[in-house]
Amino acid sequence: MRNKITIIGAGNVGATCAHWLAERELGDIVLVDIPQTEGMPQGKALDLTQAGPIVGYDTHITGTTGYEETAGSDVAVITAGVARKPGMSREDLVTVNQNIITDVIHKFVPGSPDAILIIVTNPLDTMTYLAYKLAGFPKQRVIGQAGILDSARMRAFIAMELNVAVENTHAFVLGGHGDEMVPLPRYSTVAGIPITELLSPERIAAIVERTRKGGGEIVQLLKTGSAYYAPGAAAAQMVEAILKDKKLIVPCSAYLEGEYGLRDMCFGVPVKLGRTGIEQIIEIALTEEEREALQRSARLIRETMGALK
Ligand code: NAI
Ligand code: 2OP
Repeated sequence: MRNKITIIGAGNVGATCAHWLAERELGDIVLVDIPQTEGMPQGKALDLTQAGPIVGYDTHITGTTGYEETAGSDVAVITAGVARKPGMSREDLVTVNQNIITDVIHKFVPGSPDAILIIVTNPLDTMTYLAYKLAGFPKQRVIGQAGILDSARMRAFIAMELNVAVENTHAFVLGGHGDEMVPLPRYSTVAGIPITELLSPERIAAIVERTRKGGGEIVQLLKTGSAYYAPGAAAAQMVEAILKDKKLIVPCSAYLEGEYGLRDMCFGVPVKLGRTGIEQIIEIALTEEEREALQRSARLIRETMGALK
């Protein structure tokens, strides 16, 4: 039997995630959007289907503006939402996307009570928390995507700086998905060697800063929206780790109950991803400075959570 992957929000991130997933033949894909977009998810699904003979995949891809086709999904990637526009406060964005996540969870969950939810909508940690509370699923089955993207950005910058293959790089970016995210140079390596032994403190500081502002840098360049190739690939990697039961250790936003001294919030920490979702939250040793940076990031997420109605 084939796996069923639902992607809710057939916009830039959703459609790109469908593209990365179709090529991997991990399961059939249902691409969902709102009734006002009738034809758009169907058109993208048909277009992706017609790429199959060229690229060589047999993934079945369906587009819809309803939820009937999503029933019995194994995994759902939720990208439905709006990005922050000029003049919009963080609180305004929370209110708009809170309504969207509420709508999506209420429509999707009854037909797929055993699914694993991957949240992409911003503000990421707050929307993951909201989805967890609304879905009523065990905490292992509601996971936010941010850390894979932020770590990939840092890896790309390290590879560019040292002129090495990206495959040689590893990076850990923890904390909330925002300006106070916490890149950890001590745990970031090239062929197993910490970058603290390969680069000057000034160059490391520059990489850390560029990573923190990574999303904003793309927005400034694109002008009409935010990043979607790397975010789509990051969500696809999470789907793959889950459906293949890979036991992949990556940073994701997880519901915390005391880990890292935090509770009742979703926050970026290293987790082990497998067929049941988050199979373990891994607590790594941190210096006083790193711990303080995580606490600062957590305070910012709590402020955003305060805007939830
Ligand atoms: P987009 O505007 O291209 O697509 C969003 C789609 O959601 C639209 O097609 C819209 O019609 C749909 N939608 C709105 N309300 C819906 C509902 N109630 N049910 C189903 N679909 C609904 O936006 P894009 O670029 O795909 O970004 C989507 C979200 O992901 C934004 O909130 C953005 O900030 C966030 N994002 C998060 C990242 C992360 O690392 N966590 C990275 C990139 C984007
Ligand atoms: C990003 O980091 C906007 O959250 C999005 O690209």
